[in-house]
Amino acid sequence: MNNKLRFLTAGESHGPALSIIVEGVPAGLNLLEENVNYHLARRQKGYGRGARMKIETDQIEFTAGVRHGQTLGSPISMQIKNKDYANWNTTMNPSPIDLNDEEIKKKLADKYISRVRPGHADFAGAIKYNQDDVRNILERSSARETTSRVAAGGIAHQFLKTLGIQIYSQVLQIGSVKMADEYAGNISEEEFSQIEASELRCKSPETANLMKEEIDKARKQGESLGGIIEIIVYGLPIGLGSHVHWDRRLDGIIAQYLMSVHTVKAIGFGLGFEAGCQVGSLVHDEIQRNTKKSLVSTYHHLTNRAGGIEGGMSNGEPIICRVALKPIPTLARTEENSLKSIDLKTKSNGVAFYERSDVCVVPAGGVVCEAMMALALADQILNKFGGDSMTELKTNYQNYLTYCLDR
Ligand SMILES: Cc1cc2nc3c(=O)[nH]c(=O)nc-3n(C[C@H](O)[C@H](O)[C@H](O)COP(=O)(O)O)c2cc1C
Repeated sequence: MNNKLRFLTAGESHGPALSIIVEGVPAGLNLLEENVNYHLARRQKGYGRGARMKIETDQIEFTAGVRHGQTLGSPISMQIKNKDYANWNTTMNPSPIDLNDEEIKKKLADKYISRVRPGHADFAGAIKYNQDDVRNILERSSARETTSRVAAGGIAHQFLKTLGIQIYSQVLQIGSVKMADEYAGNISEEEFSQIEASELRCKSPETANLMKEEIDKARKQGESLGGIIEIIVYGLPIGLGSHVHWDRRLDGIIAQYLMSVHTVKAIGFGLGFEAGCQVGSLVHDEIQRNTKKSLVSTYHHLTNRAGGIEGGMSNGEPIICRVALKPIPTLARTEENSLKSIDLKTKSNGVAFYERSDVCVVPAGGVVCEAMMALALADQILNKFGGDSMTELKTNYQNYLTYCLDR
């Protein structure tokens, strides 16, 4: 992909800090640290999170690319300090340490890991990168990295908002507890406030209570839970993405961004898997001239089973995308009933080691997926409309919307 908006993240889970560089944002976007911190706080909430979220209160500091609250068009760099590093500054120190010091040796030994955890990057990563201490893998494969994505996504959200594009998400299912179908497929601004206030990011308070019970049960049993979230995008113009080449199709592009999120195992647009089980007339969306005013088109689809994308392009309807997240792999169990695993040092069978962990991360996963959706769409907007400054971009954007409304 030839991205116009690129981002890179660096940082270990218990290292000194997370670093993020976002490149390609036009000059003149109003951007404050609090615009990004707002999303970081949203990622840290959620019923079923572990002790780490109580230690960290993630906040970014801009270190480049922003001046007096406006972007400069240069790379934007951000840093987030890991507060927990205070407890890890021997184990994770970037500088060499004195291996003859008995206290240091003990601290290192306490955190040394050779018993890999099924479902994590531990096994494949330790073999691929030729590491004896699995910590050298898990510190980076940890979903702490999703903090950096949410920070980068915070900038993308801010960029899209200035064009009237809004991204929302809600939790539809946790474990076996599912919201009634009527709640899915749309989120009003008012409902989004309710979702934000819910610990489960769930529209229905009754279902949210059942989800809490499910999480409590899982915690008692030393289990973890996954679920399904829905992301909805409003205000996107017709024609992002393209039918002309495989790597320019919008659904494929969004899918790559979302599939890269830790624990995401499946994605569906609109009807998703269900589209493969229905006859054509119950899958495709009929098109008619608008009777009501719309900001993006004079036509509309009578239904939105396609989830806003046809032929690899946005079609003016809201994008509706569902994402399935697996249960997190670390299970709070005793040695006797932990998941079977191997010890890479002794090469013997044993059980997975346990390190402090969440029980259910689905609500937080929704915030991370929103961020990745924002990054994918901001890149597509920049690809189509270009512009080194926001003034230039907005002029191009507005001209295109005027053209669309003339068709
Ligand atoms: C927001 C978020 C928080 C997570 N927290 C934990 C955790 O505390 N413990 C854990 O075992 N896995 C956690 N995970 C999941 C693991 O990072 C993930 O399952 C692992 O990287 C392997 O997943 P993959 O096979 O999808 O890459 C979390 C995932 C997300 C999205």
